[in-house]
This record gives sequence, structure tokens and C-alpha cells, in this order.
Amino acid sequence: MTYPVPPQQMSHSLISAALATPALRADRWLSVLSLARKWAETNKAETRGALVQALVDLKEVERFFGYPGPVLLDRLNGWLDNDDAKAFLRLAQRISTTIISKKYHRDVTAWSAEEQEDEPLNRLPQAITHLKTTPYFEVLSVVPHAPTRWRLIQEEVAGVRRPEDDFVCQAVIVGNAPDALTAILLNPDIGAVVLYEGFASDGGKANPLLDVFSSIIDISPTGDDEDLVIRLAQAIRKIRPELDIYLLSDRNIESLAGRPEIRIINRIFYQMEEPLELHLSILEGIRKRYRTPFFDNLKRYAQRPIATFHALPIARGKSVFTSNWISDMGEFYGPNLFLAESSATTGGLDSLLEPTGNIKDAQDMAARAFGADHAFFVTNGTSTSNKMVLQALLAPGDIVILDRNCHKSHHYGCVLAGAQPYYVEAFPLVEYSMYGGVPLHTIKQALLKLKAQGELHRVKMLDLTNCTFDGHVYDTRRVMEECLAIKPDLVFLWDEAWFGFAHWSPLLRQRTAMGAAAALTEELARPEALAAWDAQRKALGDAPSDELLLETRLVPDPRAVRLRIYQTNSVHKSMSALRQGSIVLVRDVDFEHVESQFHEAVFTHASTSPNQQIIASLDVARRQMQLEGYGLVANALQISLEIRRQVNNHPIISKYFKVLSSAEMIPEAFRTSGLKDYNDQDISWAKAIQSIRDDEFLLDPTRMTLSCGHAGFDGTSFKNILAEKFNIQLNKTSRNSILLQSNINNTRSDIALLIRVLVDIAMDLETKIAENGDGYRTAFQHQVRELVDDLPDLPNFSRFDDRYRDDATSDTLHGDIRRAFYDAYNEAECEYLSLDSAELDRRLQSGPTLVSANFVIPYPPGFPIMVPGQVITQEIVDFMRKLDVKEIHGFNRSLGLKLLRRQ
Ligand SMILES: Cc1ncc(COP(=O)(O)O)c(C=O)c1O
Repeated sequence: MTYPVPPQQMSHSLISAALATPALRADRWLSVLSLARKWAETNKAETRGALVQALVDLKEVERFFGYPGPVLLDRLNGWLDNDDAKAFLRLAQRISTTIISKKYHRDVTAWSAEEQEDEPLNRLPQAITHLKTTPYFEVLSVVPHAPTRWRLIQEEVAGVRRPEDDFVCQAVIVGNAPDALTAILLNPDIGAVVLYEGFASDGGKANPLLDVFSSIIDISPTGDDEDLVIRLAQAIRKIRPELDIYLLSDRNIESLAGRPEIRIINRIFYQMEEPLELHLSILEGIRKRYRTPFFDNLKRYAQRPIATFHALPIARGKSVFTSNWISDMGEFYGPNLFLAESSATTGGLDSLLEPTGNIKDAQDMAARAFGADHAFFVTNGTSTSNKMVLQALLAPGDIVILDRNCHKSHHYGCVLAGAQPYYVEAFPLVEYSMYGGVPLHTIKQALLKLKAQGELHRVKMLDLTNCTFDGHVYDTRRVMEECLAIKPDLVFLWDEAWFGFAHWSPLLRQRTAMGAAAALTEELARPEALAAWDAQRKALGDAPSDELLLETRLVPDPRAVRLRIYQTNSVHKSMSALRQGSIVLVRDVDFEHVESQFHEAVFTHASTSPNQQIIASLDVARRQMQLEGYGLVANALQISLEIRRQVNNHPIISKYFKVLSSAEMIPEAFRTSGLKDYNDQDISWAKAIQSIRDDEFLLDPTRMTLSCGHAGFDGTSFKNILAEKFNIQLNKTSRNSILLQSNINNTRSDIALLIRVLVDIAMDLETKIAENGDGYRTAFQHQVRELVDDLPDLPNFSRFDDRYRDDATSDTLHGDIRRAFYDAYNEAECEYLSLDSAELDRRLQSGPTLVSANFVIPYPPGFPIMVPGQVITQEIVDFMRKLDVKEIHGFNRSLGLKLLRRQ
């Protein structure tokens, strides 16, 4: 028997297998199905022989799943033994389609071993007596019993199910700790785990799948059974924290219950004393996650006969449904939208601005789900969430170290708060006209410079985007650790607008703000953390040079550190929330000291008429992620990895298009593991682990930059072609690329559509190049060269004009952006200069200095080329002159650049 990832059999690379583990099951089915087809067609003995082995391998994976279960698998084996290739193929196809469609969740006939779909329920050992809409999940039991008794246990579990249960569950049984972890990695249906004390610590064979998770789990077999239970529970929590864990013990459970570490277990039972109680507890655990306090109340509210005497005529829909002219809106959206509209904050609803009831409850549930201490729902997008956090934590004159390439809400947030941005530069990707992330070295350098200038006390925050629009994921933990070593009370704002889903990927979670916060909290509490700091302090000496500090991996003093971490997240961008649904997540040990100012910031920015439906969707999005997020995210990752593979290996598509690899998106210096591509087949486990754990930047696989320059398309034109001709929508482009994003909504049909469209476009190009004359070919090559080779250098932030700097002689970069912003309100103090004028060149040569009066943000690339008060340099003008995009916010071509006059 082999574990489910023998590398030689996988179409996936090891790293992609680790990122999208459930996909490994599909691999096994694909190989069984293709052999079954071949066998049915040819009836060859050698194909049948290969199928026997493929079925053995398949069963090795299938033992971690409730469906199809032993009865259906035995039947499949039976067809093989009977040499009935056609019946084998029919059943294999039926099971694999059922797995993909998840029909077994809702339709009892899916479990039938007979060919007829209408088998009576009571003849099926796994009979499921639920209605179509009853949600389904599986319970993993980790048992000490011999495998011969497992079916009995399964039947016992099935025996306590009752028709009145609000969820249906099916048992999956394993006998040791590595198998338990393999099961929760492979099987997204698992919703709860029952540990029967006495299960084995070891599976007795190597398990390469778990090796990749070794940096986050510890199940080494030391100590006694109790320790093993706790370590396995801890490992389960690190992989899938949403799962409930129950323990069945035959020892002194009262003393066990007193151990502090046992809090990780939801409930302890005396071994099999109360099977019904266990069953009811499991259902209760699921029910807790299923509960959506605000949405549940909103649904109830909508059903009540309420007369409204408040503003919002649309509430209850009477003005819509009775109208001659707008009733189509009612028909389109359906009555519930209007019944659920209200501006009331009482009578079953709650106030988003001052929540005390079900919104507060929903926010607290979201906080727990995302691993935060506090969560705040925001109904105006992460644009508002960012401004709230900046205003809450920064006062005029405070310095914030800010990625210049961040979303504009941060820049505007600084203007509003009066904070001075110290812009730091992300590494450029000139070839694709975009930026990556900000190297840690650059961030440390900024902190050390400010320290040398005696300004460190003014630095309040580091504000970074994780992941960036183009998918650069930071090593959040390391960034925070090293910055805290320089400034122990630094506050972190991680804009994770795009990355909220990552909490439901065990590996990506480590690189989210909240994931890193959990790891840091744990780490800093360990005695080794103080010892490490002490040893480093001694090694560095009393006055280490900046060079030494820059090249050392710094560790913070755990006694001095104040962990203050904020994460903003556009739930609508990666989960099932309505547009503008956003959340602020907080893990701040000093939150009580800033809570009142945080509320002021909420009052400043939040609408007093927040949209009920957006709030409800935030509540529901949390429910979904807690109950099926693991599988959905794994699917989104699998889809992206598959698109990467299909596009880059396709003989015709790959001549013109390419999904950029990690090596193309992240310079080598930030990829110490040497990982080049997720589909790299030669990568070792060690390298896969190293890249996820240690690389300074990792590429979020779901964000796929598709280069289109070699097909002669600029990003914007290609985006328009895809939207207008092929119904494919995307949002970001660069000069020679478009950004595709896979998410929890995508299916394999979407991959097929995309590949089909790319084939069509590529073949069309092939025909044109072959059939049109030399003139066409020369023009095409010229166009490609312009898009691929002739790219303007990306201009760095220059500096703030001296009048906006506290100390014009220092070489630090922060400046008073707010004063510059408001100086531009005085028209008399502003002038305009045409971008193409000779006067502009003259001023660049001999002054007076050109100072931007406002933000100038071209789309693409979408970051401010100029901010208020910034000195305009030759480099910036060159870039602007080469820019051929239509949308440039803050720039009126007919008036020219708006400048602040010299004072
Ligand atoms: C990094 C980043 N932060 C914040 C935002 C704003 O988010 P929202 O659209 O939810 O207001 C965006 C929008 O694209 C973004 O890319």
C-alpha cells in the first residue's frame, strides 16, 4: 500500500500537491477511468492488470472518504473479478461523476451499489435518510481498534442518526495519527474529528504528504497517550482550525479535563458511554458554525408583517411591486430583497455603528473564524476599512512606513489622518511594467535611518499589501519579527484585500497577518524566544552597525514586544460577500487603549445607512468558509495550478501566451529555495517546504499574470477582447499582461472555456501570420517588440519638496502630504504645465523645482506616479510621456500637470 502521493504517479508537482491536497484524489480517479475505458475498448489482459493496481492505489485514497464507501468499492472490485469491463466502466464513471457533482451530499440514490438509481434505502448499509437540503458532512474517527472492527463502528455511528437531525453525517475511520492528518488534508467533507484514546502514533511507513506540513505540525511519538492526543489535536487545529475535536477516553477523564492544554478539545466523553450524546455534540458543533446571527434575524424580520414609518420607501417593496413603471425591478430581485430592507436598528436588527446584538455576535464569530480578537464589518469596501485603521491609529505628525505601490486608500488615509508617509519601494518588474513587494531589507533600512535621525519614536506603523494585486505574498511573520526587533511597539497594517481566502489554506495561512500573529504569539511566549534574543544581543554587541543589523535575521525582545496587528480584507473579493463587504481584523494587545479612537474612525467613515444585505452576506460568507472553505479554497488553488499547466504546456497557446512563473514574478534573491514554478516536476519535498516556509516572497497561485505581449496585445486591448467577444471578465492589466484570478466560484468548465478561447485566439494569429504577407509579419513583430522590449523604467518615489519636510537636511523620506494636499486647494498657488511643453523641460533643467499638486494615478499600473508635495523628476516625466493608457486619475491632458507654485 502506498500513501496518496507517490510522486511518479502524479500529474501535479509536489508543491502544487501540497497546496491543493484534495486534488490528489481526482488524480487517482483519472487514472482508473482512463484504464477502464481502455480495458472496455480493447479487453486486453495487460490493461486489466494495470487497472488492478490502479484500483489498489485508488482504494488507498478512498479509505479517507465516506463516499463511495466499501460497498460501492467492493462492487467495483466485483466487476473486475468478473471480467465485466463495461459494468466496471459504468460504475467507475458514475462514482467519479457523483464525487465531482457532490450528488452524494443530497441524493441517497448516489450511494446505491445497484445500477438502478432507485434502490430502497433500508437495503443500504450507509443509508442516508435526509432530505435534499439537509447539509452533509463527515466525521473522522481515529480509533485503536483493528480494521476488522471498523465497519461495526461505522454502523454504530450510523445507528444513532435520527430523522430529526438537522445535518447528516457519515463516519470515516482511520487507525493512527498520520492517517488522521492525511484524512483532514484530503477530505474537505470532514467537519469534526473524534479521537478514541489509544490510537497508534505511527502509520508505519513514510508519508511524504505530511513532510511538507512538518514545519507547522508536531506529532512526534513521545510521551504517553495523553500527550499524543494533545499533539494530534494541536496538529489538526494548525491544519484545519475550524474542525471540532472530541475525545473518547477510557481513563480518568476528570483529571484529563483539568489539563490546560486539553482546552483544544471541544468535549471529552468516557469511552462510548454515551454515543447519542457524542452524536448530538457533533451536530451542535456544526450548528454553532452554521449559525449566522445577523442573517438569521434578518430572515425572521423579513417574514414579519411590519409597517414602516421611516425613510426607505423601498423597504417591504410596496412602492416597487405596485408600480406601473418599476415593477420589473421587483420581479428581477424578488420580494425578499425588499422585505429585508430596513433602516431600523431595533426590532430584531442591530446597529452596525454601535452593535450590541446580532451584528456584534456575528462580528465576534467572524473574529474567531479568522483567528482574530476582534472583527468589524465594513459595508463600504476595504477602501474604507484602510482609512478607518489609519485614522484610528495615526495622529498628525506620526510617521507611517508605506509601500508606495499600495492601494490609494492608504495614501488618502494619510492625508486624512495627517500622518507622514515614508514611502518605501517594492522591487520593480520592469519587463511587465509592474511592481512586486517591498523587500525586508528596504523596510529595515528605513527604520534604521529614522532611528539614526532620532525619529524612531514618531514611527507608528508599517503598512503593507499582502498579497499584492499581482500575487506577491510576504513572509508576514519574519517581517514583523525583524521590525519588532528594531521597534517593539510598531503597529502593523496588512492590507489583505485579496487574500482573505488564504486563512482556509493551511500553508498560505502561515503567511497571512492573523496566521503570523498566532505563530508569533506562541513563539514569543516560549522561553527559547528570550534566550534567542539574549544570545543575539550578545553576538551583535552594544553598538551594532546598520550593515550588521541589515544582514542579521533579527529576533525581538519578547519582554518588550507589544503585538499590534491589523488586517483588512475585502471579503467580497475572495469569499461569498456582496460587493463592498469588507472586514477589519484586530489582534492588538493594546486595543483597549485605542478602542474609543477606533470607534471615532468608524463613525467618521461608515455610512449611517449601512446596507443590511452586505452585512448579512459577511455573516454568511463566514459560515460558508467555516464549513466548506477548506475544500473551496483547495479547488480554487487546483484550478489555478491547472490553468498554469495547461497554458504553459499547450503547443500553440504557449507560443503567444504564458502564465508567469514564480521565477518570472519574484527575483531570485527573494526565492532562496530556488523554486521556479508551481508546476516544476523536479522539485524535492525539501525545496517545497523551504519555499513555503522561508522564501521572502511567495506567489499566490490564484493570481495568474498572463503575458499577452508576444501575441501582439497590450493588456487593456486584450482585456476588452476577452470581455466583449468571449464573455471572460477580469480586472487588472499591465502594459503587456492581464491578471486572471481563480476563486472559490470557479469550476473546471471555466478552465475549459479559457483554454478554448486562448486556442482560438492563438490559432487565429497563426493563420494570419502564415497567410498574410511580409508586411503583416513585420508590423506584428514590431508591435510585439514595442510591448515586450520597449518598456519604460518604473519611476521610484523621488522625494517630498523641502517645504513639506520637517528637516530638509536629513536623508529620510517622510513628508507632510496633508499640507501639500490642502495647499492645492488654493488655486492661486497652483499652476499647470503641459506634459509635452518645452517649458516643462526647461523647468526640469534649471528650476524652479516642479512639485505635484495632487495624486496622479495611471491605470494601469494603478499606483501614484506622483503624490501631493512630491518633486517631479525627469524620470517621472519620461514615464508619463511614454504612458499610453487612457485612464489617468488626477491628470487632465488638456490642462497639463497641476503643480504647486514655489512659495
Ligand atoms: C490592495 C487593495 N486594497 C484595497 C482595495 C480596495 O478594496 P475595496 O474594493 O473593497 O474597497 C483594493 C481594490 O482593488 C486593493 O487592490
